[in-house]
Amino acid sequence: MAARDRLAFALDAPDLARALPLLRRVAPEVGVVKVGLELFVRAGPDAIRAVREATDRAPRVFLDLKLHDIPRTVERAAANAAALGVELLTVHAAGGAAMLGAACSGAGDACRIVAVTALTSLGAPDLRALGVADEPAAWVDRLTDLAIGAGCAGIVCSPLEAAAVRARHRGALIVTPGVRPAGAPSGDQARTSTPEDAVRAGADLVVVGRPIHEATDPGEAARGIVRSIAAALGET
Ligand code: C5P
Repeated sequence: MAARDRLAFALDAPDLARALPLLRRVAPEVGVVKVGLELFVRAGPDAIRAVREATDRAPRVFLDLKLHDIPRTVERAAANAAALGVELLTVHAAGGAAMLGAACSGAGDACRIVAVTALTSLGAPDLRALGVADEPAAWVDRLTDLAIGAGCAGIVCSPLEAAAVRARHRGALIVTPGVRPAGAPSGDQARTSTPEDAVRAGADLVVVGRPIHEATDPGEAARGIVRSIAAALGET
């Protein structure tokens, strides 16, 4: 897989008018564009269409809705996402095995379900406050086993947990947000690492938002991350 296909740009913007200029600058540099809750709640399927039409070589669309509801509702939502041409869709692994299996059935073959394990904004004290006795790494392992066992293509975890997940599930698609180029502010992400380390640890797809958005030249920031991923893969 080419280095650019390993980078998912998080197109987090309040509306399409503000998303489009960013999309035009960054879409040619990345293989995947992630549409999340903020933009999808405002713009809906138009946001998906905008990504697909942003460049001649349409980036793959990753719809990050982190669905978590009863199985039937999630199954139908996943079917609707697949009908929009979305290639990756997130659900919360904590929704349980039946919900995860229903998401996979609804999504069909063209759309892969990726289960969010522990949000990368959560640290050990947050998990304890939620009544989770596991440490983050053990909680991620537990939810990963559940998601892969239920038929999901992969999981979302912090880069710090990617190596352990890869060791347990060789074929799983590992998606890691919480990725910060060296020196970039971590924001609200609690468990972060650089794109190079994430890929070396086994991440297939690294998600980066603010370090690209906030750069003076977002296109160049995305190219820089792709270069560092290529270097980590030994492609340069
Ligand atoms: O701006 P930043 O690089 O922190 O963006 C990370 C993106 O990844 C956001 O869109 C966020 O919703 C998403 N995400 C995350 N943690 C997860 C799953 C998705 O940060 N566990």
